[in-house]
Amino acid sequence: MGPSRSFLAGVIVLLGLSSSTLAAVAPTFDWKLANGWNQTVLPSLGTSVGPFTPPAGAIKTAPKLAAEAASAKAQGKPGGVFICEDIHWKGLCGYAVEPLNECILLSDPWLTAISSFGPDPGATCFAFSSGDCDQNNAQWSFTFPGDDTGGVNTTNPFNDKITSFACVKS
Ligand SMILES: *[C@@H]1O[C@H](CO)[C@@H](O)[C@H](O)[C@H]1NC(C)=O
Ligand SMILES: *[C@@H]1O[C@H](CO)[C@@H](O)[C@H](O)[C@H]1NC(C)=O
Repeated sequence: MGPSRSFLAGVIVLLGLSSSTLAAVAPTFDWKLANGWNQTVLPSLGTSVGPFTPPAGAIKTAPKLAAEAASAKAQGKPGGVFICEDIHWKGLCGYAVEPLNECILLSDPWLTAISSFGPDPGATCFAFSSGDCDQNNAQWSFTFPGDDTGGVNTTNPFNDKITSFACVKS
């Protein structure tokens, strides 16, 4: 093997090493898998019933550094929502990517049945016990990685109450 060929071979080996090293330090991982998602993407969790404008000042646009780092590794799409019928991401779960700025009226089996609500990174989702996302009635909001407690220990639990929701970019 002449010097130029061995040099080329060395370059190729180095390229191979650096790309596998990159893959090892920056694994792609979807947070929903850790919560038992079966990787089914549903067409929707309900039906769109109209446009949604978030309450003024409701979107936090300066996430903490730690949250930003977690988001960067977590995968998903703004508007993606993972919901489960039971707390701690148990029972029947569903995932769909809903259009942003649209009010989604939940359909069976999710209607007034959700105890865990998890938006993908990049959006804030507002949830309502009413069916029309009336922004004067914004009762709950969720950002990645969501809330799997049903809010049962809060003064305003969302457990089995969510009827409609809307996600906006954050
Ligand atoms: C995955 O979950 C969906 C509900 O989100 C359900 O309809 C589907 O049957 C499940 N698929 C498997 C393979 O368990
Ligand atoms: C609610 O609080 C009780 C008492 O601290 C605790 O045992 C329980 O796990 C909490 N429930 C949830 C869903 O976090």
